[in-house]
Amino acid sequence: MNAGRSPAPVPRPAGVVELIGAGYAYEDGPAVLSDVDFAVPEGRSLALLGRNGSGKTTLLRLLSGGLRPVSGRLRLDGADVSYDRAGLTRLRTTVQLVVQDPDDQLFAASVGQDVSFGPMNLGLPEAEVRERVAESLAALDITALEDRPTHLLSYGQRKRAAIAGAVAMRPRVLILDEPTAGLDPHGQERLLEVLDRLRSSGTTVVMATHDVDLALRWADRAAVLAPGGPRTGPVAELLDDDALLDAARLRRPWGIAVGRVLRERGLLADGEPGPRTPEELAAWAPAAREG
Ligand SMILES: Nc1ncnc2c1ncn2[C@@H]1O[C@H](COP(=O)(O)OP(=O)(O)OP(=O)(O)O)[C@@H](O)[C@H]1O
Ligand SMILES: [Mg+2]
Repeated sequence: MNAGRSPAPVPRPAGVVELIGAGYAYEDGPAVLSDVDFAVPEGRSLALLGRNGSGKTTLLRLLSGGLRPVSGRLRLDGADVSYDRAGLTRLRTTVQLVVQDPDDQLFAASVGQDVSFGPMNLGLPEAEVRERVAESLAALDITALEDRPTHLLSYGQRKRAAIAGAVAMRPRVLILDEPTAGLDPHGQERLLEVLDRLRSSGTTVVMATHDVDLALRWADRAAVLAPGGPRTGPVAELLDDDALLDAARLRRPWGIAVGRVLRERGLLADGEPGPRTPEELAAWAPAAREG
């Protein structure tokens, strides 16, 4: 396809954004992260897991430029991020972080104003700002809330409005800190549908979560913040590693536990992936009976 064009011999960066040998400590505090290498590969969905206080939020803030590593560096598309205005703008238009508590993110009077803030701040023409706001409100299914005061929204609606604000920046990487926490089951499912749509339109999605079942069914890759540092890999592989789960104090996902039972009973071949959800188990079960 590229015949006739000689590709430049530039080494491919491991991720869109990448921390290299990064360390961070809050003022007067001990090191939260030390010598961390962490890449966000483009086009993947990544679940970040780890117990309370393991540094998930800190890591996400380092990746999105809200915090600056005290040692090591952050790279964007293979180049070091400069923490000046231009460098941070470049980072912000590529990577957007949605913080856990929507009240830390929403500040404008109405939903529409809040969502338009980022694009307006980029100095985009008004028509494009309007287009982006309409697009992201529709993506989050909150078009009807555009004129509503943010403080009158329910928690789940505020969460959606906060995510819409990030989506309006059309980031290549959308990072969400515990986006499903505090949502009811229906709200969680709707949010996952939104994230799946963003993912199929090419957005790389990173999510910190405590929900190992959600991570198993939603993510391609996982990163587990264990005391020895982050471990990354295919989600089904990482969440099947008892030693790692114990070290990170994580529960074994339901799907992994079911897969083990099925293998023990000879119903699933070694190496064959097990069902990740009750629905997948139900779809698989009749076929197993016939086979
Ligand atoms: N603003 C801050 N000032 C000082 N220390 C902080 C600050 N924010 C976090 N820490 C400390 O840094 C460590 C990592 O916190 P962080 O919030 O990154 O963890 P987390 O994995 O996101 O936890 P959780 O699952 O509870 O959200 C903790 O020991 C925490 O007390
Ligand atoms: Mg956190």
